[in-house]
Amino acid sequence: MSFIKNIVQKRKTERMPDWHFKFMNIIFHVIDFIYPYIDKRVKKFGLKPGMTVVDYGCGPGRYTTRFARLVGRHGKVFAVDIHELAVEAVKEKIDKYGLTNIEAVLASGYGSRLPGTIADVVCALDMFHIIKNHTEFLAELKRITKNSGYLVIDDGHQRRSVTKASILESGHWDIIEETRDHLKCKPKYT
Ligand SMILES: C[S@@+](CC[C@H](N)C(=O)[O-])C[C@H]1O[C@@H](n2cnc3c(N)ncnc32)[C@H](O)[C@@H]1O
Repeated sequence: MSFIKNIVQKRKTERMPDWHFKFMNIIFHVIDFIYPYIDKRVKKFGLKPGMTVVDYGCGPGRYTTRFARLVGRHGKVFAVDIHELAVEAVKEKIDKYGLTNIEAVLASGYGSRLPGTIADVVCALDMFHIIKNHTEFLAELKRITKNSGYLVIDDGHQRRSVTKASILESGHWDIIEETRDHLKCKPKYT
């Protein structure tokens, strides 16, 4: 995994090459087959029927479909990613499983193209380590989150201390809960 980590860190842009995305997708398939942990994990995120959830950095949509099930037909999931192949993969899942409450959105830089204060919950999973400008990124997550909403973010492939320092130094979020798996944050308004 350190081979992949090196590639991620040396890249100038956060959009990974196509081959990397495809390789990552294969690895995810293998991991999910050997260790199917996602359903158990998402139960801890507090998602409820009717919520609007943004799966930020959705990748091939492993979490997106689970979120869609949890929020139900009165809820909505926006699957946002900077990579076209991610958007394609999510669209394929929407068609394959007839999911009507998911919208796949192609981000540009740190802009999600989503309207402001739309999300009850934003989930940024296994992707924060890729982000170079934490403050700009976290500002966008805050912009799309309702005042009453919250962010679920994990460390990805970085130390917890780095994740926490980046969140707190951004000035955009307060950490309200911390588990080994993830951090929950609420938008900070001064
Ligand atoms: C390691 S994958 C994780 C995918 C998914 N969250 C999961 O855990 O299965 C990281 C994803 O974040 C996306 N990403 C990286 N930088 C991004 C950005 N600035 N905006 C949106 N997505 C981004 C990548 O394209 C990639 O699909």
